[in-house]
Amino acid sequence: MNKTTLILGGTGKTGRRVAERLAKRGRTVRIGSRSGQPSFDWEDQHTWLAGLQDVDCVYVTYYPDLAFPGAADKVRSFAKLAVKNGVRRLVLLSGRGEPGARLGEQAVQESGAEWTIVRASWFCQNFSEGYLVDGVLSGEVPFPAGNVAEPFIDADDIADIVAAALTEDRHVGKLYEVTGPRLLTFAEAVAEIAKATGREIRYAPVSADQYASALLEYGLPSDFVTPLVELFTAVLDGRNSRVMDGVQRALGRPARDFADFARDAAASGVWGSK
Ligand SMILES: NC(=O)c1ccc[n+]([C@@H]2O[C@H](COP(=O)([O-])OP(=O)(O)OC[C@H]3O[C@@H](n4cnc5c(N)ncnc54)[C@H](OP(=O)(O)O)[C@@H]3O)[C@@H](O)[C@H]2O)c1
Repeated sequence: MNKTTLILGGTGKTGRRVAERLAKRGRTVRIGSRSGQPSFDWEDQHTWLAGLQDVDCVYVTYYPDLAFPGAADKVRSFAKLAVKNGVRRLVLLSGRGEPGARLGEQAVQESGAEWTIVRASWFCQNFSEGYLVDGVLSGEVPFPAGNVAEPFIDADDIADIVAAALTEDRHVGKLYEVTGPRLLTFAEAVAEIAKATGREIRYAPVSADQYASALLEYGLPSDFVTPLVELFTAVLDGRNSRVMDGVQRALGRPARDFADFARDAAASGVWGSK
């Protein structure tokens, strides 16, 4: 019987790509998000069971972030419910250098299901589909990252690994720490985007306090802004300025370079005229 794969965050940066890949492999896919049918909301446990009907594998992405307060407890409760309802495999998206996220990883590892963990660096797609896209469009990208170097990963690489882990047995019990192939500062990353678009765009380093104030002024609630900016401060302190070989280990090929991401994203028109 063709059981269903549930993709939590299935409309997001990695989930959408995983759903496309599984559909191409002939898998039946259910999107688990607030806009899914049935709706799945991490903030409302009563919505979790409906999404698990006839499901044997789940791609677990937590929103806003696995390191947020309470996230690991919710992931633990969800994993328990999933296993109780016949799920045999969980693939978890986690973040590098986030102590809070380790608890979420443990919850999945201890669930009794087959597990794979993909512990990712900063996504390239934050510049094209995430909170940095408005800055790119305006020509100035304010962000509290100083001069730190980050090995940005392409969400397509993550999706390739997750799709493989959901459909092949050789990834069970593996933790892949995945990064792009080279370190770039945020200034260098923005320069790659400027080069790909042919437009003048610059990175504008700001302090964590300035960034938090801007988000609060924009109308975001403080119980979202405070842990988010704390998380950015932690993971951008240099602890993650190291390239890892998770993509090569999982897929037997190198990770995609930021310049290739920038070229393809520019060609897609996401940053304006093609
Ligand atoms: N972005 C990065 O650089 C990065 C790096 C490493 C790890 N990660 C991890 O990736 C995960 C996703 O982060 P992201 O920022 O890239 O977001 P994303 O996956 O692009 O988008 C968020 C997804 O979550 C869904 N969602 C939002 N609120 C929800 C809720 N309350 N309940 C259920 N689903 C909800 C959204 O759909 P609906 O609006 O329909 O609900 C959407 O599908 C996080 O756990 C983060 O730790 C991200």
